[in-house]
Amino acid sequence: MPDRPRVFVTRALPSAGAVARLNAVAEVDGWTLERPPTHAELRERARACDGLLTMLTERVDGALLDYCPRVRVVANMAVGYDNIDVHAAQERGVLVTNTPGVLTETTADLAFALLLAVARRLPEGELAVRRGEWGPWHPSWLLGREVHGATLGIVGPGRIGAAVAQRAQGFGMTVLYHGRRRVDGFPGERVSFDSLLERADFVSVHVPLSPETEHMFDARAFAHMRPHAIFVNTSRGGIVDQSALRDALMERRIGGAGLDVTTPEPLSPDDPLLRAPNLLVVPHLGSATEQTRARMAELAVDGLLAGLAGVRPQHLVNPAAWERRRT
Ligand code: DGY
Repeated sequence: MPDRPRVFVTRALPSAGAVARLNAVAEVDGWTLERPPTHAELRERARACDGLLTMLTERVDGALLDYCPRVRVVANMAVGYDNIDVHAAQERGVLVTNTPGVLTETTADLAFALLLAVARRLPEGELAVRRGEWGPWHPSWLLGREVHGATLGIVGPGRIGAAVAQRAQGFGMTVLYHGRRRVDGFPGERVSFDSLLERADFVSVHVPLSPETEHMFDARAFAHMRPHAIFVNTSRGGIVDQSALRDALMERRIGGAGLDVTTPEPLSPDDPLLRAPNLLVVPHLGSATEQTRARMAELAVDGLLAGLAGVRPQHLVNPAAWERRRT
C-alpha cells in the first residue's frame, strides 16, 4: 500500500500492543540491534520516512531534518527531549512529542531508592558481605545518615519533584523546593536555590536539561551544600559539572551522591568520577520497569500516529510547529 506512511523506530519497543498499533497503520522500519543507531545510520534509515520514533540516545538536529525532508513528526520515547533540537524542528514544521506523566512515580521511586541507599551506605555494606568483610556486629561500623525527620531539598518542583516530595512526607521529612514559580499545593516550602543548598540534608534534582540548567550544580553549588548533604540526580547528567562533583566528594565537602544519569552515558568504568567515595551510580534506570517502559512506548506511538494522521498530538512539545503546519 503505497500511501501508508513510513516510520523508523530506533529500538525494539517493549510493548507488543504498541508495535501492533504501529504496524497496522505504517510501514515500519525497526532498528533491531541492542546498540543505538549511529548518527549516520539514523540519517540513512530516516531519509525515506515520514515519522521517527526515537530514544534519548538519538540526536535529532536541523541537519538531520534537512536531510530527511519527509519527516513530519518525531516521537521521543522519554519525558526529556534535550536530544532533539526543538527549535530546528519547529522552524521546519516538524512536530515533536514526548511521554510525560507515565514515568513520574517510577522515577520518583528510583530517586528515593538512591537517597536511601547512599544515606544508609547500602552499596558499601553489600560489597563488604560479598568480600567476606562482614565481621561481628560493631557499634560504629558503616554508620550512615538518618533519612526520617531530615530536610529534603527538591530542585525542580514538576511532576517528578512533587512525587519525590510526597514520598518524603511519608518519612516525616521537611521538604524545601526551588523552582521558577511557586507551585500551589506542593508539599514543601519554596526557597531560593542557595537557601535550599544551605539547609537541605538531601538535595534531589528534577529539572530538564537546557542552556539555563546546564552545570547548575557546579563548584559554587556544592560549596553551599552542607558537609553531610547527599546529592541525588535522576534528571540529566549535563545538569552537573561532574569534575566539581568529584572534587566535592573527594574532599568530603559533601556527604555523598546517588546518580542515575552521568556525562557521558554510558560512563566508562575508568571514569575518574568512579574513584570518588560515597558515590552510587546506576545506569539510567529511572523509568526502567516493565510496566512504565510499556506505557512510554504506547504514548510514543500515540504521538507518532496522531502526528502522521494530522491530528494534534496530546504531548506536543513544540505547539508552534503545529501552528506553522496549519498556516
Ligand atoms: C526520560 O524519560 O527522560 C528518562 O530519562 C528516561 O526514561
